[in-house]
Amino acid sequence: MKALRLLTLCASGLLLLAAINSCAPQPAASDPTSPPATSAPVAAATATNSPAATATNPSAATATSAPATADLKGDMIRGGKLYDTWWTEIAKDAPKDDMPLFKTQTTDKTTGASTWRCAECHGWDYKGVDGVFAKGSHMTGFKGILADLGKDPSVILAALKGKTNPDHDFSKVMAEQDLVDLALFVSKGTMDMNTVLNQDGTPKGVAADGKEKFDKVCAACHGPNGNAINFKTPGSVEYLAHTSNSNSWQFLHRMRFGIAVWPMPAAIDNKFSDQDLANVLAYARTLPKDGAKASGGGQLYDKWYSVLAVKTPDGDMPLWKNQTTNTRKGASTWTCRECHGLDYLGAAGMYATGAHKTGFPGIFAAAAKSEQDLTAALKGQTDPKHDFSKVLNDAQISALVHWVKNEMFDVASKVKPDGVSVDGDKVHGQALFEQTCIQCHGKDGKLLNFKTPDAPEYVGTVASTQPQDCMHRVAFGVPGFPMSAAIDLGMSVQDIADVCAYSQTLPVK
Ligand code: HEC
Ligand code: HEC
Ligand code: HEC
Ligand code: HEC
Repeated sequence: MKALRLLTLCASGLLLLAAINSCAPQPAASDPTSPPATSAPVAAATATNSPAATATNPSAATATSAPATADLKGDMIRGGKLYDTWWTEIAKDAPKDDMPLFKTQTTDKTTGASTWRCAECHGWDYKGVDGVFAKGSHMTGFKGILADLGKDPSVILAALKGKTNPDHDFSKVMAEQDLVDLALFVSKGTMDMNTVLNQDGTPKGVAADGKEKFDKVCAACHGPNGNAINFKTPGSVEYLAHTSNSNSWQFLHRMRFGIAVWPMPAAIDNKFSDQDLANVLAYARTLPKDGAKASGGGQLYDKWYSVLAVKTPDGDMPLWKNQTTNTRKGASTWTCRECHGLDYLGAAGMYATGAHKTGFPGIFAAAAKSEQDLTAALKGQTDPKHDFSKVLNDAQISALVHWVKNEMFDVASKVKPDGVSVDGDKVHGQALFEQTCIQCHGKDGKLLNFKTPDAPEYVGTVASTQPQDCMHRVAFGVPGFPMSAAIDLGMSVQDIADVCAYSQTLPVK
């Protein structure tokens, strides 16, 4: 479809002298409605033909024929991600000071890194003072950038290098290609969001009509209910239902361009029409805000300080010195998994021997205990040395208790007597893998490397060497990373075993 579309564009472009960029060799066409499954994060999909941009601004297409733009080659989708949070996309530390221009206004009290975000000054609707940020806590009075849609990107590039205002110079913090991508985004990627949204942010779409696209594209990662990835912390959840209701403009921007770093497909690459965008947003707004199967307790159990992004605990957990066989020190002695195991059986399971052996008991049988008893155990009321109430709040402890009682499953029963092979149906596992996991991990599981280029670790590596890790993390997600919890993708325990059994056949290096 993409190729077809470009063909017509190129043909008419002969007359319009337009789509010079678009006629350049393109990456292989993909099915427009399905996410770019195996493809690496959005390749330089010149994407000059954003449907929205051309629809709402017919002059935009011709403007790209300006001779100077032929020199600017880049990825306007990536530009959209940079517009959102550029330092995340370029993997730099967030700026600590305020952006110099920010002090030329006094109404927006934001300080620090956020004052460096394009969206903080120019708005998620790209309209600055003429749009949503005309009032409220984000009001700065700064102008928008929507008028630059269709402008020569090299002129925009100059503005980003401080030509019009030396304080608007981003060349000190970003590389040339980043600025080019941003300029292409400003020139070709923005849209008048009023074509999709009403003044109050409600979408001009029909929820029921958005379900099909949502299920086909978004559900693979966010789950059919939009709650397989929690953007916040356990006990204080934020799912697509929340963000679609709280900020339609930001949601729309992120849906169209994806988000920094992680392989979320851009709706622009999937050729969503304006109507599709409105419908999917409308549908997202109807999804449940609670009732996710994964409370997040499973991730807390795994490594609570990564989930909460807090400082790692100092010293050893007080109970640690009751054993001598496991010689680890420091933070990891504070993780539930290190003492109780990822099969939840403690000394009776995978940690009965080996370097993780502590002799501490499992908790699998504790699922039968009352919520009160479990809460008491975690707050140190049964053993003062087993007190987590100083590092976890009540909501987090309650997520852990919920997890113990309702989500923990018999991992050990899915590992064969050899201690490594997962007892599952690989053929079924492959089908599941290709519906969901492939979106982030790629067909061979090698798209994300969890370690270093020299000593890589992929899905296949983890599954083959640590089957319990695979099952626990597939089911509940990975602490500190946006991985979908499979139980909210609709998978059963057997499905999870099947997918890990299949993952054991994937390349390990
Ligand atoms: C602290 C607020 C602030 C931030 C952050 C900011 N800008 Fe601006 N921008 C302005 C102001 C104010 C102007 C008005 C003209 C000037 O002073 O250069 C402007 C002008 C522009 C213009 C020229 C608009 C025109 O038609 O004159 C573009 C394009 C632009 N900004 C894009 C961006 C992009 C892309 C980013 C993110 C890398 C960004 N801006 C970050 C405040 C900001
Ligand atoms: C390949 C997996 C994947 C697919 C497919 C996907 N997303 Fe995402 N999405 C993510 C990840 C990962 C995050 C980032 C979560 C984080 O940073 O905590 C995210 C974040 C988001 C956010 C930002 C959170 C917020 O609301 O501020 C929005 C909006 C969003 N997705 C909407 C969608 C929509 C709508 C679709 C379908 C059109 C979709 N996503 C498809 C993986 C995906
Ligand atoms: C340093 C090792 C260690 C760590 C870390 C640890 N525990 Fe324990 N846990 C124990 C020991 C030992 C017991 C047995 C009772 C006691 O001595 O407190 C226990 C008991 C329990 C019990 C009660 C079991 C029963 O049958 O009554 C639960 C539930 C529990 N732990 C859950 C957790 C969770 C959840 C975490 C993480 C927040 C955690 N533990 C972290 C060592 C640890
Ligand atoms: C929304 C994107 C996304 C989806 C969908 C996804 N994962 Fe992941 N996965 C991640 C991220 C991110 C990481 C952590 C990356 C890192 O550590 O650098 C990860 C890590 C893992 C790990 C390593 C865990 C460990 O012990 O370190 C395994 C195994 C894994 N995923 C398997 C799967 C399987 C199987 C599926 C399908 C059921 C799946 N993932 C679906 C994003 C995803």
